[in-house]
Amino acid sequence: MFQLTRSVTWQSLLKLRDETADDRIRDYFAKDPKRFDKMSLRVGGLFLDYSKHQISDAVLEKLVELAEHSALVQRRAQMFSGDIINVTEDRPVLHTALRNLGDSPVIADGKDVMPEIHATREQIKRFSEEVRSGNWKGYSGERIRDVVNIGIGGSDLGPNMASRALLKYRQADLNFHFVSNVDGAHIQKVLSRLDPATTLFIVSTKTFSTQETLLNARTARRWFVENAGDDADIGAHFIAASTNRKAAMEFGIREENVFEFWAWVGGRYSMWSSIGLPIALAIGYEGFIEMLEGAYEMDQHFQNAPLGENMPVLMALIGIWYINFVGAETQAIVPYDQALHQLPAFLQQLDMESNGKSVDIFGRPVDYKTGPIVWGQTGSNGQHAFFQLLHQGTRYVPIDFIASLKPEPGVEDHHFALLTNMLAQANAFMEGSSKGGDLDPYSCPGNRPSSVLLLDELTPRNLGALIALYEHKVFVQGVIWNINSFDQWGVQLGKRIAGEISEKIDERSQDFDASTQGLLGLVREHFQA
Ligand code: F6P
Repeated sequence: MFQLTRSVTWQSLLKLRDETADDRIRDYFAKDPKRFDKMSLRVGGLFLDYSKHQISDAVLEKLVELAEHSALVQRRAQMFSGDIINVTEDRPVLHTALRNLGDSPVIADGKDVMPEIHATREQIKRFSEEVRSGNWKGYSGERIRDVVNIGIGGSDLGPNMASRALLKYRQADLNFHFVSNVDGAHIQKVLSRLDPATTLFIVSTKTFSTQETLLNARTARRWFVENAGDDADIGAHFIAASTNRKAAMEFGIREENVFEFWAWVGGRYSMWSSIGLPIALAIGYEGFIEMLEGAYEMDQHFQNAPLGENMPVLMALIGIWYINFVGAETQAIVPYDQALHQLPAFLQQLDMESNGKSVDIFGRPVDYKTGPIVWGQTGSNGQHAFFQLLHQGTRYVPIDFIASLKPEPGVEDHHFALLTNMLAQANAFMEGSSKGGDLDPYSCPGNRPSSVLLLDELTPRNLGALIALYEHKVFVQGVIWNINSFDQWGVQLGKRIAGEISEKIDERSQDFDASTQGLLGLVREHFQA
């Protein structure tokens, strides 16, 4: 049976790793004046510079060979055409169908899914226009002023990140709030500022069974009834995005206000579905479609560009180089754009929930590292927090810098400072400083790698392309590692045990380890009647 680490290409990469271990990135530029041109590419409104990596031409060639010799081309075709590639959950993976703006049918389980997708898009269009125009009335006849999305994980992070990123496109008289944490302080704080007569709650949950979301939704419903009057009014103030229509209706949501999506949309890939409804409400349906268009453009590029000129493939291969050959444990995401401040959290779930796996698709343990720890925050804030460790610490951390070129009117000077700071950091990480030699405490070793991703402007279209880019990067890495990027059994385990612990709060159960029992004892003191 094929073993990745025994393959000729993998072995060649190990050899190249040893041969290039002492290379300086800046010397690659000195040797090849065309390196920047060769190692950068544009897709639509996105420009990627991947020249500041400790990756020689020979390494890059071998990495591309690794992708060519993997199941990537076949698995990519299977994903787009609706084959069952989420093998442990026996499902196709079709978030790409949600942004399929072409005419082609997409068949899943023997059925074209596009008509249902079109119908749901129409429903999103109608509803978002009603709310934005003020035609949608609450129980007292007033229009909606505040929208509260209640969801967690993929049912929160995507719409939350995108509607903050696209704040400047937002309708000014509609406010958005995102409640995710089961900590009651979260929902209490949000509710304390709201008027039930003008508030719309979206219960966003694929399964309509997630403890945190249901608890928050029930608290919101209780608050609504206590402050507004009547159970019968719930229908005008609560809607749902869910695959579980029945449970949503039992909650009190009107059938026509359950926005459907499907089992073949993974939670962390769901912002293109009705989970993206807050985005359509915030920036309008046209803007939502523009976001899908950007993602569709990236899908086309991902499917058609040769692997060596394919943006998601290249980003995936660069990651694999650092994770599997250089030994990096983490990947930093540093957007130099305040509007993208939720992006690291979004990408953290996308990557870590997808590729945090240690068995392959046949359930066999893998003998290589898989998904990295993804973390980060905005620059220039990060410069004054964790960059010191990146410059002079003992860890080796590849960085993705992300920024948009176009300044906002009135703050051009800020934007100029923002971009020049980012370029300075990327340069400093590579060049380092060696004033007084290696023992000089001021000296920075440099030779630390980074990519720079530039958006022409932070538009819905470019944001869609950016997110699709990372989705496909994660997919490519998953295929090369031969893991299933689309299940999350570890998260399910936590959910199950949380259920068991709360059921046993009244018993002196011996079912748990001594530590859990001891701690549960302390908790019990506060919760027994
Ligand atoms: O974190 C695990 C997970 O299943 C995610 O994949 C999903 O986005 C989240 O929980 C929320 O699930 P649901 O949308 O069903 O409430």
